[in-house]
Amino acid sequence: MRIAVTVNGERAEAEIWEGESLLYALRERFGLPGSKNACEQGECGSCSVLLDGELVCACLVLAAQADGHEIVTVEGLGAGDELHPVQQAYVDAGAVQCGFCTPGLVVATAALLQRVPEPSDYEIREALSGNLCRCTGYTKIFDAVRLASGR
Ligand code: FES
Ligand code: FES
Repeated sequence: MRIAVTVNGERAEAEIWEGESLLYALRERFGLPGSKNACEQGECGSCSVLLDGELVCACLVLAAQADGHEIVTVEGLGAGDELHPVQQAYVDAGAVQCGFCTPGLVVATAALLQRVPEPSDYEIREALSGNLCRCTGYTKIFDAVRLASGR
């Protein structure tokens, strides 16, 4: 089947298999490998994207379900070569080690700060609870969220 979506502000169409995930379509059909595939089971959040402004795990959404909808991936957050403030905060806080979790965390953080510009530690914890990181111990990630919030 053919789907037409808006990805990062641009119209895009692709021929897909009915059973494939939005994550697969983003990475393999639309050439956007920023969203990572770590578990493909909705457990890790590395594939987090915005679907019509809502944070979702792209591995749990069928590409067919996204037909006619708007998607923002980590590639669409910044403006050209300029990093999004959340991305810059992750760099400045040293919140990136292997980086595999980072795109999902950045998208989840951007979604949180859009909703709650000055989140409490509890709100940060809750908002990022679906995003797993095996490297950082989360301290630097929390620092990055606070930094981005303060800016
Ligand atoms: S790859 Fe989607 S939640 Fe892990
Ligand atoms: S930085 Fe490696 S999993 Fe988070």
